[in-house]
Amino acid sequence: MSDIRPKLSQEIACAEMKPPPCGLIVFGASGDLVHRKLLPSIFELARNDLLCENFFFLGCGRTEISDEKYRADAEAAIRRSVPPVSGDSLTKFIGSLYYISGDYSDPSFYKAITARLIKLERKHHVKGNRVFYLAVPPSIYAQIVEGLGGAGLSCPEPDCQNIRLVVEKPFGRDLESAVELSGILQKHFSENQIYRIDHYLGKETVQNIMMMRFANAIFEPIWNRNFIDNIQIKVAESVGIEHRGGYYDKAGCLRDMFQNHMLGMLALVGMEPPASFEADHVRGEKVKLLQSIRPLTLQSAETDFVRGQYVSGKTEGKPVPGYRDESQVDPNSTTETFVAAKLFIDNWRWRGVPFYLRAGKRLASKDTEIAITFEKVPHSMFISAGLPDLPPNVLVIQIQPEEGISLSFQAKRPGSKACIGTLRMQFSYSEVFGDKPPEAYQRLLLDCMLGDQTLFTRQDEIEVCWKLLTPVLQKWQAEDGKPYEYPVGSESFKEADRLIEADGRKWRGFWEG
Ligand code: BG6
Repeated sequence: MSDIRPKLSQEIACAEMKPPPCGLIVFGASGDLVHRKLLPSIFELARNDLLCENFFFLGCGRTEISDEKYRADAEAAIRRSVPPVSGDSLTKFIGSLYYISGDYSDPSFYKAITARLIKLERKHHVKGNRVFYLAVPPSIYAQIVEGLGGAGLSCPEPDCQNIRLVVEKPFGRDLESAVELSGILQKHFSENQIYRIDHYLGKETVQNIMMMRFANAIFEPIWNRNFIDNIQIKVAESVGIEHRGGYYDKAGCLRDMFQNHMLGMLALVGMEPPASFEADHVRGEKVKLLQSIRPLTLQSAETDFVRGQYVSGKTEGKPVPGYRDESQVDPNSTTETFVAAKLFIDNWRWRGVPFYLRAGKRLASKDTEIAITFEKVPHSMFISAGLPDLPPNVLVIQIQPEEGISLSFQAKRPGSKACIGTLRMQFSYSEVFGDKPPEAYQRLLLDCMLGDQTLFTRQDEIEVCWKLLTPVLQKWQAEDGKPYEYPVGSESFKEADRLIEADGRKWRGFWEG
């Protein structure tokens, strides 16, 4: 297949607003997420002049450390994650970090936080804009939210928009626990103060789904059952569960990736055009789409879902242990590390178009894409030239790691009269815009400080997703069987292949483009 590469033909004004003065109060501040993602992302915002001058970060945690030690650790973490930085910008940023330690279950901790906040707000000229960020395991959410409420740090009234709460997934482990969690959060914060992070929604390529669909007139007329044969969404990871065996073994791929990231992307690809780019217009359309997914049953959970678990194999020639040998994983675990599924959306636009979804760990390589395969031409006029079956056009939204978009089509090749080949128009973010797109957390942190909930998940979306997956969870929990095995480094395995091949189709290969 030959490539044709586009150029950016017109610069478009990209206005980015600066948030107002604000304090970011992060619980779990000495943890991995904060060091790997949050601190480097906030620093990048500061370095790109996207953070208000009047800003401070108050880390809260159980570990007893001084401001100085916290700053030294933060600086080291930032230097590990971002490209080389000038001393000045980092020193200035590090000076806005503070730390306080205490016991999350002790009301006096929240009193101490309040006193510290008052001082810091005075020092940094911040007038009550507070973003509380829970970077802790969900089992501690209730304690912290109650603590904040008890100390008068929350305010679930409509005119308290300047107080916000950010929570990380998982949002429950099933419908019941998701509703319970929501009850806890909403006791002290109203829905429009709660920012539920699904970091996939902050990825440039995922945000671009909306731009591509709704800022161009050519796609919408063919974005439906009359022109599209099937859609495949693939989230393949080459990494395993890293150091998260304790969490992952209780969650599995369905809860970890499918209920949130996969269904979130499906909603963006399938939803109707929102009335405007306002948070609740976009989120409302996503929910409507998710509500239109054909309900699953124990029967369709059996026929349309396949789960797998990796066993030992090789990555880049090196042996890698299987899932059951990972630390903190039950040696007899039946937790799935791979899910393949077929879903249908029962509405006018999509009726009858299968959506094939795949997510898995320890696969051949990292490769996340959404591939829209169009119908084949209804009749090939080139039969007489020996070309009875022309391949369909495929539009691929490459989410990561090679961010881009490609479209394949057939064209005459120089040479004999009926010489047809498949060409691919390819747009690559790094070639056109230079460099990698920014880390998703930068967008999400900025939006949260600006009070824009568009890229955050609303509670009703979470409930619709859990409700949809309930039969699958029930079935996998009830049965004695275990997931199918696939060796580390595989692209797929036969039971997963059967799911799509039974329909006369194939999974797209890795790096097919
Ligand atoms: C997280 C999951 O939400 O997303 C992880 O908990 C997964 O298991 C990660 O590895 C993948 O994110 P990304 O951005 O690397 O695709």
